[in-house]
Amino acid sequence: MPSLCTIEALNSRIWILGVLLLTTTQGSRVDDICYNWLGNLGDGFTVGQTNATICFTNWNENDAGDHLVSDLSTCYGYYYCESKTSVGVWNHCPTNQHFNLVTGECVSPETYVCVYNRCRNVKKPYLAVVNSACFNYQSCATGAIFTCPAQKPYFDEVIQSCVATQPASNICLWVMR
Ligand SMILES: *[C@@H]1O[C@H](CO)[C@@H](O)[C@H](O)[C@H]1NC(C)=O
Repeated sequence: MPSLCTIEALNSRIWILGVLLLTTTQGSRVDDICYNWLGNLGDGFTVGQTNATICFTNWNENDAGDHLVSDLSTCYGYYYCESKTSVGVWNHCPTNQHFNLVTGECVSPETYVCVYNRCRNVKKPYLAVVNSACFNYQSCATGAIFTCPAQKPYFDEVIQSCVATQPASNICLWVMR
């Protein structure tokens, strides 16, 4: 039986959706199978949860006023810190965004290289593998890692497809040293 989670299956689903609205039900079933989508639950955090030490731990000396710091566990959660000594209050980025701890903002995942589980909070079946220059991509449903074909060696996670030219996003350009 062919997998429901291949790019081909999703592409044909998009095509079918354009033609027939009635396939929407089928579409959401594929989503449940293909996406590692658990909403924002299940990572051990709830909105409003506090941490007494996280602001102090994450504070940079050049941080002037109140700002957001990473929760050091997820790609989408952050703590609001009023000052270095205040208690951090957890919240999270909207769906399909990651927290950029450098800028303290929620951003599109490909623009920032998050080192925690990149699939969480992102409704996409495949994402580029960190530090692979986008030569590799991963199924968020199974964790399986794939390589793009030689003629189209780069995975563009924005369009969910292998492409000939390396995408100019940070997730493809950034290499860990
Ligand atoms: C609070 O944050 C620290 C990191 O500064 C972490 O080690 C600790 O587990 C967190 N505590 C709770 C209760 O989440």
